[in-house]
Amino acid sequence: MTAEPFRSQLAALEQRGRLRSLMPRSGRDFASNDYLGLAGDAIIAQSVADAVARGVPVGSGGSRLLRGNAPEHEGLEAKAADFFKTQAALFVANGYLANLALFATLPQRGDLIVADGLIHASAHDGLRLSKAASVFAAHNDVQSFADLIAAFRAEGGKGRVWIAVETLYSMDGDMAPLADLTKLAAKHDAMLVLDEAHGTGVFGPGGRGLSSGLDGLHNVVTLHTCGKAMGTEGALICGPRVIIDYLINRARPFIYSTAPSPLMAVAASAAIDRIEAADNRRDRLATLRQDAAEAICGPLGLPAPRSQIIPLILKDDVRTMAAAAALQKAGFDVRGIRPPTVPAGTSRLRISLTLNNGRSDVLALGDHLRRLVR
Ligand SMILES: Cc1ncc(COP(=O)(O)O)c(C=O)c1O
Repeated sequence: MTAEPFRSQLAALEQRGRLRSLMPRSGRDFASNDYLGLAGDAIIAQSVADAVARGVPVGSGGSRLLRGNAPEHEGLEAKAADFFKTQAALFVANGYLANLALFATLPQRGDLIVADGLIHASAHDGLRLSKAASVFAAHNDVQSFADLIAAFRAEGGKGRVWIAVETLYSMDGDMAPLADLTKLAAKHDAMLVLDEAHGTGVFGPGGRGLSSGLDGLHNVVTLHTCGKAMGTEGALICGPRVIIDYLINRARPFIYSTAPSPLMAVAASAAIDRIEAADNRRDRLATLRQDAAEAICGPLGLPAPRSQIIPLILKDDVRTMAAAAALQKAGFDVRGIRPPTVPAGTSRLRISLTLNNGRSDVLALGDHLRRLVR
């Protein structure tokens, strides 16, 4: 195999300050999505140990449509449908795969997907696979969504409209205007696809997410990922029974893929119980947010954080990575986020608040940031 064109492209990335490499985790956790500190939870771990002891296999052995369907998958899906108050749920290996499956499968030829301009890369990849056309609305701008729908109809578009947003944006920490988008969807008989990756567990009653209350609606499909606040892995697509049945029959990323481990279904099931009972953890995370407002946002002139995700936009790729490296050297695991994950010119430190830290960690990070970023 020749090293070209790979070597020269990697060199070009390095020159632009965009070369990535894997590094071991170390330092205080301001980078993970383990918001409620459940990734190492003893009760979830015990549920898996118990399942191993009673003979639940590690491997599923095949696609869910063949031999891979285990009672643990079905048990989790029944529990998730009940918990999120929706007709049905489908467990898939991760949120990336879920977004591929959703967008590649549900919108039909002639439909229009109107997605928020800052929607996650996995949704973008799903849109690329879709038979429907897609357009991007200005971030969180309901009028922009409305204008794009109006333009589609004015040009003779007859298909269904799909509105796709994250309920809480992974790199910006702000929330979608769900009430207004729901009204817009109702007005246009549109479907809403709500990615709750960062909302599940943290917001809503019992951690049901920011879309709690919308989940049961006939025109809403929700994606609750299990790898973030739920501390495990996988994703639950929730929606009307007919939509879930259609995905089982038509979603290639679901059909042509080995089912997730039944043990992970057991873990995700235990995680639902854990987040439901985690009011105390959600309160502690809210307190940590106040600490961050005081120690990080105030002194740096940033608005008070609306969520557990705080973006500190430094714009320049190289400056951002240098700041992240300096923080890592000082024992704070803060990661720099560059294009294409975020738009060009908006490179940032993504500060993630998790219960793996306490107030003193947040104050210490604030101290370092004040010295570093002036
Ligand atoms: C908004 C959003 N959707 C989907 C995903 C993908 O989920 P998973 O990590 O389970 O593949 C992520 C993960 O980064 C995300 O932030």
